[in-house]
Amino acid sequence: MNVQTKHSADATTVEDALAARNYEQAVVDSGSATALAMQNTLLTPRFYTTNFDELDAIDVSSVRSDWDQLIDQMKSDPNKGHFKKNEDWDHIDWDGMEPKLKKEFIDFLVSSCTAEFSGCVLYKEMKRRGSNEDITTLFQLMARDEARHAGFINDALREAGIAVNLGFLTQAKKYTYFQPKFIYYATYLSEKIGYARYITIFRHLEAHPEHRFHPIFKWFKEWCNDEFSHGEAFALLMKTDPKLTRGVNVLWIKFFLTAVFATMYVRDHQRPAFHEALGVDTDWYGHEVFRKTSDISKQIFPITLDIDHPRWQKGLTALQAANADLADAKAHGKFFKRIGASIRAGLAFVNLYTIPAQSHAVPVSTRMEPVY
Ligand SMILES: [Fe+2]
Ligand SMILES: [Fe+2]
Repeated sequence: MNVQTKHSADATTVEDALAARNYEQAVVDSGSATALAMQNTLLTPRFYTTNFDELDAIDVSSVRSDWDQLIDQMKSDPNKGHFKKNEDWDHIDWDGMEPKLKKEFIDFLVSSCTAEFSGCVLYKEMKRRGSNEDITTLFQLMARDEARHAGFINDALREAGIAVNLGFLTQAKKYTYFQPKFIYYATYLSEKIGYARYITIFRHLEAHPEHRFHPIFKWFKEWCNDEFSHGEAFALLMKTDPKLTRGVNVLWIKFFLTAVFATMYVRDHQRPAFHEALGVDTDWYGHEVFRKTSDISKQIFPITLDIDHPRWQKGLTALQAANADLADAKAHGKFFKRIGASIRAGLAFVNLYTIPAQSHAVPVSTRMEPVY
């Protein structure tokens, strides 16, 4: 690159995005935000690594026409230049923000930024290690998008006087190894649930703009369309190998659906002031996002969770209560309370996992468009 790109939003490759000036500026501050992003718990975003050779060996010829169409759409780059502040970016009085809301909102931004960057790091590494042109092209495009998303969140954080040191995270954060099939299930779901979360908030704030307490929500529509496309790519990757969605793997799919939904529920309930400011009932929001994600995931998964089963909401509530007790026991060094709460959380998860799933036929054609 000869001329440094001013902003990650305008970059056409992940390398240029990460070298952009707004990324450089992100590496100035801030100990506490970076420490938050460094956390590796069951509930915080992780960094992943996998068997890149196995991923590189995927042959997409069985889904060729859908694949080419998706890649062309991503190459056409409708969101180039979008993820930066413009005249729609309202001034935010961070100092005047109610302290509890400020804390939860910053936690939301740091955790979202870490999740975006986690995707960026994984996709970039796949692009770097691969030699299969179909695969490396896709992963380069997805890494480009995630670098823009993370850069934009850091722009928002910088106004509050903090930033996540993404260069440091890349070096220092622990990487969790997942075999490729688990990467497909987990990443597919996180892309699709990301879409469902952002579009649900966007539509809600469209109807209730008085609750839009920060301008970043105005960017959520284009944002979630990127995530939707990334999810489409993983759906097509899974489609190339029918074994991935059959037999014992269906139990793994159920596990990932349950884990991803339950994690979201527990995490969101840790941010009551944030959801109150948005004017969103957290239980309603969770159910809405699960419904959308379930509907979309029928494109590739042969089962969906029965989120209307009487044990579902009860199980989530029990898991959430056990988690709150666990956090309290950890904070106060109460050993026996900690063991008790861990067991209760485990049982609540088993209770959710054992709710009979709903089976259905998977469509011949996988591709979908975002319709919510
Ligand atoms: Fe993203
Ligand atoms: Fe994504």
